[in-house]
Amino acid sequence: MRRRRTALLWAIGLAAGTLGLAAVGATQAAPWLKGYALYHGHAPLSGRIAGHGEAMPAAVLGCAGCHDAPRTEATGNRKVPVLGRAVLSVPRSRRGGPDYVYAADSFCTLLRTGIDPAQVMTSRTMPRFAIDDADCAALWTFLKDRG
Ligand code: HEC
Repeated sequence: MRRRRTALLWAIGLAAGTLGLAAVGATQAAPWLKGYALYHGHAPLSGRIAGHGEAMPAAVLGCAGCHDAPRTEATGNRKVPVLGRAVLSVPRSRRGGPDYVYAADSFCTLLRTGIDPAQVMTSRTMPRFAIDDADCAALWTFLKDRG
C-alpha cells in the first residue's frame, strides 16, 4: 500500500516536472520564433527611409531581403552585413569611427534611429523602424543565436 502511494507520488512529481519544463521551453522559444518571423518578413514591420515622411511598404522591410542577399537592387548593390552573433558581438567600426559592439538596448536604438553604439549614423539604405520593445527583444534573441 505504502509502496503504491510512493509510486503514485513519483508519477505525479514526474508529470509536474515535465509540464514545468515544457512551459519554460515554450516561454523561451516564443521570442526566438517571433524574431525569426520578423527577420524573414513573415511578421509585419513598420519603417521608413530616414528623412522621408512616408512609410515603406511592409514587403520590403523584412531584414533578410537586404541582409541575407548582401548585394541586391534593394540595397543599391551595397555591401550589407549578414547579421548574426559575429556582426553584433565582435568589435567593429563604421567609416573609421571608434570600435563598438551591440547590446540589447543599443541594437533597438540602431533599429529606431540608425545610430550605432559608437554614435555613428548608418546609411539611409538601412530603414528606420517604428518597432516596439517586445519585437526588438525578439529580433535580438533570434540574431544573438545566429552564427
Ligand atoms: C532596405 C534594406 C535593409 C533592410 C530592409 C534592413 N536593413 Fe539593416 N542595414 C541595411 C544597410 C544598407 C546597412 C549598412 C548601413 C551602414 O553600414 O551604413 C544596414 C545595417 C544594419 C545594422 C548595423 C550593422 C553594423 O554593421 O553595425 C543592423 C544591426 C541592422 N542593419 C539590422 C537590421 C534589422 C534587424 C532589420 C530588420 C528589422 C534590417 N536591418 C533591415 C539595409 C537594410
